[in-house]
Amino acid sequence: MLNFNFQNETKIIFGKEQESKVGKEVKKYADKVLLHYGGGSIKRFGTYDGIINSLKEAGVEVVELGGVKPNPRLGLIKEGIEICRKEDIDLILAVGGGSVIDSAKSIAVGVPYAGDVWDFFLGKEKISKAVPVGVVLTIPAAGSESSSGAVVTKMDGQLKRSIGSSLIRPKFAILNPELTTTLPNYQTACGAADIMAHVMERYFTNTENVDLTDRLAESTLKTVIKNTPLAIKENENYAARAEVMWASTIAHNGLLGTGREEDWSSHLIEHELSGIYDVAHGAGLAVVFPAWMEYVYQHDLERFAQFAVRVWDLDPDFKDLEWTARQGIKKTREFFASIGLPVTLAELDIPADRLKEMADKCTAQGPVGNFVKLSSEDVVNIYKLALK
Ligand code: NZQ
Ligand code: ZN
Repeated sequence: MLNFNFQNETKIIFGKEQESKVGKEVKKYADKVLLHYGGGSIKRFGTYDGIINSLKEAGVEVVELGGVKPNPRLGLIKEGIEICRKEDIDLILAVGGGSVIDSAKSIAVGVPYAGDVWDFFLGKEKISKAVPVGVVLTIPAAGSESSSGAVVTKMDGQLKRSIGSSLIRPKFAILNPELTTTLPNYQTACGAADIMAHVMERYFTNTENVDLTDRLAESTLKTVIKNTPLAIKENENYAARAEVMWASTIAHNGLLGTGREEDWSSHLIEHELSGIYDVAHGAGLAVVFPAWMEYVYQHDLERFAQFAVRVWDLDPDFKDLEWTARQGIKKTREFFASIGLPVTLAELDIPADRLKEMADKCTAQGPVGNFVKLSSEDVVNIYKLALK
């Protein structure tokens, strides 16, 4: 196990009707808040009214900025920065999923910075200040509700890039599984793939003696594998929704990566797909992750066999570790397909003509990944494995 520091200061407020507490929670930081949300789901399903009431009751003044698109755009973030400066906003309240939260985090770092907020995404500037962010989560997926990251798309150049700093970790996140019962099944499935990917990016490691985090990762994966089909079959199944929602936070709050080297190449490979073709991040991962597994599994057959046996309950073939490892990859792909996700680029309507361009962009700063370091050529090969 490697040395590590672990600190996650996001306060999680979990359970039924907990969003009614949002006003009280916001008031600890703010008299005036920017209420940030997406394309309208919170208005369609009544979440918006409850939040406005709670904020008003707490005596919090509200300025609004809706319209965040999935794969959030830099343009709206710049608008948000201007509003926050003009209105003297004390906290940004993100009500939605990863896209809204990441947009809020990006506004938060842009407000106190005199230059272009994209500088942070290019690594030209280090984050040293941010307006506080609070969250009411409506889709379990990205884990942004307690992560230190944000991912944004700049349309000019079709670039999807990220920032990371503990300064952008939300101060609080309200998780009411009831709010997720209105999700279309496709979004529930995309969320599950993203949660699983966050665990697997940490699971496939070269670090030895990581029993505890291996076991935590395996149980998080098994929980998502068991409960996602239930949530899809019975949208109102609170117990299943609750398991998946808590798993989304656990998968990406830093705990599962403690003491171990993480990989993250599948995410970087996927971000190029979302950046150009605007596909849902989770759907892109359902295509990329099994292809990545196929490409790298021989690097550590034992780890892949362990994954197959412990996560998918497969009987190992003791004489043929490779066969066992391959069965785990097959099961992963079959699971994604069974919950309605695409597992090939063709199913995402992504043609083969820009694979090299995406791979070059992905590896522009050098090889990606840690489990196996991948060059542009490797990334092209992974895209090719995902084509069929
Ligand atoms: O925009 P609205 O109308 O709200 O609809 C949204 C959106 O269309 C809808 N939705 C959300 N909650 C709903 C609902 N529909 C009905 N009922 C509800 N309760 O779902 C759609 C997708 O929302 P989005 O926020 O895009 O989903 P997700 O949470 O999967 O976020 C994806 C983004 O997060 C980034 C991804 O790259 C992507 O841009 N990620 C952020 C990370 C982080 N900050 O730590 C890590 C992740 O790896 C990921 O990269
Ligand atoms: Zn992700």
